[in-house]
Amino acid sequence: MIETASRPRVGILISGRGSNMVSLVEAAQAEGFPAVIALVLSNVPGAGGLDRAKEFGIATATVDHRAFNKDREAFERAMDEVLRVNQIDLVVLAGFMRLMTPWFVRRWKGRLLNIHPSLLPLFKGTHTHARALDAGVAEHGCSVHFVVPELDAGPVIAQAKVPVLPGDDEDKLAARVLVQEHLLYPRALADVATGRVALIDGAVVRR
Ligand code: GRF
Repeated sequence: MIETASRPRVGILISGRGSNMVSLVEAAQAEGFPAVIALVLSNVPGAGGLDRAKEFGIATATVDHRAFNKDREAFERAMDEVLRVNQIDLVVLAGFMRLMTPWFVRRWKGRLLNIHPSLLPLFKGTHTHARALDAGVAEHGCSVHFVVPELDAGPVIAQAKVPVLPGDDEDKLAARVLVQEHLLYPRALADVATGRVALIDGAVVRR
């Protein structure tokens, strides 16, 4: 169990439209969900997801990375302060388009999750759907993982697969994967929030 008196408080970090954030918020509204979505934080002022979070009555904040003159750690210290003030226990990256420094990753070790639109370790980085199509794979999908300093390299908590179909283009494949993302992320968050899944000595342990 993540060490808290009650259900862990989750901060979701976004940069854009926030569809995964919405799926997490909706899942967390169900009775018995083992975490509370307490904050949605964006590095992009006016990101579409912020308005959606407000519609759900969730606290929002913006820390604009451009105000920190490329000092990534200063940017993260400002975010970290917002997370601390909001008593956040678990941080969930959902379309958050900034690389985390080792400082931030160490600080949130085992309490920092990301969703990536590929079957890791395949297709780390960006343009995953186009690269999957170029590679001619028969299956594609998404992965939820603990974050480590190396990009998209953290231990995988859960994955969901989709078939690659004849006639697929990037958008069609992305849409098929996104449906699975919205199912997978809430389940993975619940597993970490309850302690059914934990990061121990750099590996995912299931209990
Ligand atoms: C998702 O495909 C996610 O896997 C990736 O960025 C996209 C974010 O979409 N990391 P949304 O903002 O959650 O709609």
